[in-house]
Amino acid sequence: MIICPHMSLFSLFRGRSGRGRKILVAFASQTGAAEAIAWRSANALIGAGGFVRVAALGSLDPAALAEAGTLLVVTSTYGAGESPDSARAFVRRHMGARVNFRGLEFAVLALGDRKYDATFCQFGRGLDRWLAQCGARRLFDVVSVDGDDDDTAMGKWCEQLGKLGARCDVENLMPGAPQDWVLAARHLLNPGSVGGESWAVALTPKNPAHLHWTAGDIAEIWPRNDPGTVADFIARHDLDGETLFKWKGHWTPLATILAMSRLPADHEVAGISVQWLVERLEWLGAREYSIASLPADGRLELLVRKAVKNDGSLGLGSGWLTQTCAAGGTVSLRLRPNPNFHPPAEQDAPLPQILIGAGTGMAGLRAHLKYRAAAGRKEAWLLFGERGRGDLYYAEEIEAWRKDGTLTRADLVFSREEGSRRYVQHLVEAAGADVRELVVARGASILVCGGLEMAAGVHNALIAILGEDELDAMTQDGRYRRDIY
Ligand SMILES: Cc1cc2nc3c(=O)[nH]c(=O)nc-3n(C[C@H](O)[C@H](O)[C@H](O)COP(=O)(O)OP(=O)(O)OC[C@H]3O[C@@H](n4cnc5c(N)ncnc54)[C@H](O)[C@@H]3O)c2cc1C
Ligand SMILES: Cc1cc2nc3c(=O)[nH]c(=O)nc-3n(C[C@H](O)[C@H](O)[C@H](O)COP(=O)(O)O)c2cc1C
Repeated sequence: MIICPHMSLFSLFRGRSGRGRKILVAFASQTGAAEAIAWRSANALIGAGGFVRVAALGSLDPAALAEAGTLLVVTSTYGAGESPDSARAFVRRHMGARVNFRGLEFAVLALGDRKYDATFCQFGRGLDRWLAQCGARRLFDVVSVDGDDDDTAMGKWCEQLGKLGARCDVENLMPGAPQDWVLAARHLLNPGSVGGESWAVALTPKNPAHLHWTAGDIAEIWPRNDPGTVADFIARHDLDGETLFKWKGHWTPLATILAMSRLPADHEVAGISVQWLVERLEWLGAREYSIASLPADGRLELLVRKAVKNDGSLGLGSGWLTQTCAAGGTVSLRLRPNPNFHPPAEQDAPLPQILIGAGTGMAGLRAHLKYRAAAGRKEAWLLFGERGRGDLYYAEEIEAWRKDGTLTRADLVFSREEGSRRYVQHLVEAAGADVRELVVARGASILVCGGLEMAAGVHNALIAILGEDELDAMTQDGRYRRDIY
């Protein structure tokens, strides 16, 4: 049986597993990676006898876990070592208490990122400890995954799933390879800004079938080194850029592998075989960007802040998109469904919506406003902050949405112009009574997009206005959703 990922955030009996086991695969995910792995793991576990169920951790309580039989949790860590939003209420309500989990066996796959050194996979590890302290039997040590493409860690998970009866192939647990897109156009949106340059970047897929996503989804970009630098490296070391090597699970030309890896110094390469070189190359990694357009626009648009480091060099991902990649050049891109930031469920869709963001957070909000405008939905309220008035991206579209009623209200704040360093969270605080009225009396949903600090300020303002229980309930119902970074 094929399980369709992202079918439901909530529990669903899906199929039969090996050896008569009852397996619950619970996930907690902020930007969709852990959720996708949970569904793929469940898919692999379906065999003869027993049942496999997939559920969002946030939709469960300790009693449901206690009777799960075998519990596999796939979770990421967010914020500063915290849970994803969808598990926030679970942590608050249950994880401070000792529960009796005797009879339950469990294992945890913890997603994280090693750059968050001290809090690497902290939430997954904490959950693993809590389950064990409550008497559940650990099937195997927590498996920590560094990013989406950690095939070593996923190999360990796969091996353990195999012991539970899964027909597991690590490639089937990993996200697919990136696709080839073309950098069709880009332009600077905020010339003369006191902040960093922000660019509108438009991409078209080489295969039109890839023009397929939902408002709220994320584009993963695999940045490349400057093509000239790669060509020089290949020439200097007399390499054949066309030779194919198995890299990240796929046959890839050497020139592409070198383009996506940190290029070693010449002395590190001297006398080593090409195979050894490929094995030792360090991948540059992927960078995530909120998608700012809809497939109906015919192109995938991003709003990218060019990162400039202290030494004047550019950030890899933003530099690649805004400068290094030539117009018409190939961009490796993987679409990531982000169910936690999708539009509200159909029955809630006609209700008002409050969209809150700052800076490049306008990208995700714009996709949602386009979605509402296309569906003829009215009553959206935008609260947006940036440094200067020149940083009001897509000002003409915002004006048009105000005129046609898509936006009934737009509150804007420019921290460097108001003199008082006011930010979007101050707008939220000031509009507290109206926010409360729209949410409580009219059932409005809230979307927040942008940086972590802004999101924390907005979250605290919303707690003051609505209370933590109401925000938790809204998160559970999909009426409070965040795309934050
Ligand atoms: C969900 C999400 C949505 C985002 N949306 C947007 C958006 O709409 N617009 C926007 O401008 N930015 C967005 N960002 C931020 C963006 O992903 C980049 O962090 C930003 O562009 C700076 O990256 P850079 O490569 O230019 O800079 P760099 O300085 O090269 O890298 C930035 C960071 O990436 C990390 N990094 C370094 N090496 C690796 C590696 N090998 N693998 C993985 N990570 C590594 C480092 O911590 C570094 O500080 C989003 C981030 C997330 C998580
Ligand atoms: C704003 C932000 C904060 C994060 N904080 C942590 C952290 O404290 N520790 C960690 O290991 N990973 C952290 N991560 C990395 C995520 O856990 C990692 O990207 C994971 O693959 C996301 O999975 P998800 O899409 O299921 O949420 C953070 C990522 C972001 C964007």
